[in-house]
Amino acid sequence: MIAKQAVHKLFFALWPDAAARQALLRLQSPVRGRLIPPEKLHLTMAFLGQQPAEALPVLLDILQATHVPPLQLTVDCYGYFKRPRIAWAGMSVVPAGLLAAQAELMARLEAAGFSAATHGEFKPHITLAREAKEAPAAFSAEPVVWDVRGLALVESMADGRYVPIAQTR
Ligand code: 2AM
Repeated sequence: MIAKQAVHKLFFALWPDAAARQALLRLQSPVRGRLIPPEKLHLTMAFLGQQPAEALPVLLDILQATHVPPLQLTVDCYGYFKRPRIAWAGMSVVPAGLLAAQAELMARLEAAGFSAATHGEFKPHITLAREAKEAPAAFSAEPVVWDVRGLALVESMADGRYVPIAQTR
């Protein structure tokens, strides 16, 4: 019998549906570095890191309780984080509802005793490549319109896959 995992590496994310994922992967073409496989593209809302299995029910409650309004994200720019050497896609206009949902999520996590990270101040982004030496060239693609419905709790597996373990609609 396979032993149940004692710890899980977890994060909350906006998880693209098939259409948004297909559109987002096109934004990778001018990007150099170690490209993120298309099935792993997402927008991190809060990174939890290793959590004991007992934390899962609490995190699932937080997932259900956090209000994420229907959001339309217009992904229309590139950015670069120098220190982790990440090339990413983002929004020149971030909907207030996205910031409010992320703030609510962080507040709920904190109230439940979790310390969640967002790489400093929350800067919504979709990582396109790691080990990128420079920022991507100017954004020349059609902006991607991503209709977001709900939030996902995602597990980062030992084999490198990201598996959404629960999602709201
Ligand atoms: P990213 O959001 O910049 O892509 C799973 O590892 C996801 O959580 C990745 O998307 C990753 O970075 C994000 N992540 C990993 N470590 C993090 C940290 N310390 N703070 C914030 N986000 C982190």
